[in-house]
Amino acid sequence: MGQSGPLLRRQPFKGLYIAYLVGSTVLIRLPYWCIRYALPYMRPRSSWSLRRCVTVAAYREVLTGVPLKLGLDNSHPPPTSDNELKDAKFVRIEGLSEDSVEFCGELRRATRRTGIRPETISAYWFLRPGTNITRDLQATAGEKVAMHIHGGAFYLNSAHPDDATSQLSLGLLAHSHSLSRVLGVDYRLSATAPNPPKNAYPAALLDCVAAYRYLVKELGFAPENITIVGDSAGGNLAVATTRHLVENSIPGLPPPGRLLLCSPWLDIAGSRGGPNDPRVCNWYSDILGGLSDYPHRAYLGTLIDAGDKKTNPYISPASGYITETEGLFKGFPRTYISAGGAELILDDSIVAAERMEADGVDVVLNVEPDAVHDYMIFTWMEPERTEGLKKASKWLDS
Ligand SMILES: *[C@@H]1O[C@H](CO)[C@@H](O)[C@H](O)[C@H]1NC(C)=O
Ligand SMILES: *[C@@H]1O[C@H](CO)[C@@H](O)[C@H](O)[C@H]1NC(C)=O
Repeated sequence: MGQSGPLLRRQPFKGLYIAYLVGSTVLIRLPYWCIRYALPYMRPRSSWSLRRCVTVAAYREVLTGVPLKLGLDNSHPPPTSDNELKDAKFVRIEGLSEDSVEFCGELRRATRRTGIRPETISAYWFLRPGTNITRDLQATAGEKVAMHIHGGAFYLNSAHPDDATSQLSLGLLAHSHSLSRVLGVDYRLSATAPNPPKNAYPAALLDCVAAYRYLVKELGFAPENITIVGDSAGGNLAVATTRHLVENSIPGLPPPGRLLLCSPWLDIAGSRGGPNDPRVCNWYSDILGGLSDYPHRAYLGTLIDAGDKKTNPYISPASGYITETEGLFKGFPRTYISAGGAELILDDSIVAAERMEADGVDVVLNVEPDAVHDYMIFTWMEPERTEGLKKASKWLDS
């Protein structure tokens, strides 16, 4: 390992810091939270149990910031064989060819501006429990499929079945009867200082378009029977992928039939504010420990100062800095957006739904009042998680 970088990433400081974090959480924070949230009226949401209040506080005040501070990598390495995975199959997907019809529009422009290139990526097929994993991957007649783009602020998590975000894919498989498999896309994650910079925009978008192309052109799925699913930053990529397909009318690659978003992060510019903004008033009821600028800097790379954060609809389609909103979502497929009423970036979902509706998109917005950001991936967010998944699956099956 290099000698540079923040102190906390080096031993013995890293070990000492972890010991301090664990010690102070158990001895000081935990007792404090138990007193602070002892009675229902003292809790961020009176419906919440004490256990949930403590879990949310632990995420917000301790866990969310840790990977970056300590340089921890929570992505999972690809498996060495399918036998390592349960009811899942690992595949490689070729990057877009720069001579292909898909490599057009904003993707081509952004690639020129940034020097970011297409690459081969990994993906995981999540199968219904008990499915023969050696099955042929080609689409069967009339088969429906979902392509899940996971969350993690563009720099965390993975599509691996052991990752927390896979709970969304697994939840949809468990509750929808029209889906028999979901493709989880392991798009490239971004990084920036103090890490070596890598995979800024449009790397992840290139990867998601390549995964969609794989479903349609290699496996033969009908676009109308594909749902692109995304949570949090994955919701941003799901919208951008759909936008690329809608705006460019690519021969042989029409847009998907549906779009399903859970707590999508669509205003990277953080264009709203004020005391009534959920970013302020939901501070104590969400897991996000404030939005540091690391994800923006990592994802935008050299474009960070180029205004793209504020007004590029491929990056911030719910931004308040976009003043001409008419037509912004024109031609988008049927969309379902689910968000938590207790989350910081609730307005991203509300504004996107409003803009879609104004453009004539068939959109449904569902807000689970007391749920946190990206609640469908947290198995401790019950009963909201199951409720939300059931509603989304019902929409998917309709
Ligand atoms: C799984 O499918 C393969 C290929 O179709 C077949 O050869 C194999 O016998 C099947 N395994 C089981 C357990 O059904
Ligand atoms: C999409 O799925 C429906 C329902 O399974 C099926 O009837 C239809 O033929 C499929 N579309 C295409 C183009 O295959």
